[in-house]
Amino acid sequence: MTTKRTGRSAAKSDSSLHPLVLVLHGPNLNLLGSREPKHYGLATLDDVNRALVGRGDAAGARIETFQHNHEGGLIDRVHQAARDQVDFIIINPAGYTHTSVALRDALAATAIPFIEVHLSNIYAREPFRHHSYFSDLAVGVISGLGAYSYELALEYALRHLQNRNSHGSQKTEKAH
Ligand code: DQA
Repeated sequence: MTTKRTGRSAAKSDSSLHPLVLVLHGPNLNLLGSREPKHYGLATLDDVNRALVGRGDAAGARIETFQHNHEGGLIDRVHQAARDQVDFIIINPAGYTHTSVALRDALAATAIPFIEVHLSNIYAREPFRHHSYFSDLAVGVISGLGAYSYELALEYALRHLQNRNSHGSQKTEKAH
């Protein structure tokens, strides 16, 4: 498991000035760089996280990253995200994409908007990867663009949060 709080300091009252984005990585993604590079590329998890934190910093956003190999660890982190008033979640549920009703339920319970990302194109792989327990709750799904999948998700999140703040609206957006 790795967890990192990075970027600007994470005071809750900072939310509209410096929105808080949580990036969640599911099981086995700690092995990125050496794990099945033909599917997942050569970038390590640290490389992926570093790029996201750098982009967040440039945009004035706070980025937290968290990887866990166990379902319960990810669920607990989603619950904590609600307490921390996280504004947006980017999640690669990895193998739990195709199995975890419980992680889905956690995201639904918090109602924090999220994007589901995958490094590989799950629709071009084995049939059991074609179903996701998350996609119908997600704001969007990005699959198959390698580490760029995360970067594009963050671009969307930053723009979305900027628009929300410039329109002065509150956190009313919900996962279904
Ligand atoms: C993955 C795709 C999943 O099917 C797989 O179990 C993973 C990674 C991806 O990023 O492509 O662990 O989510």
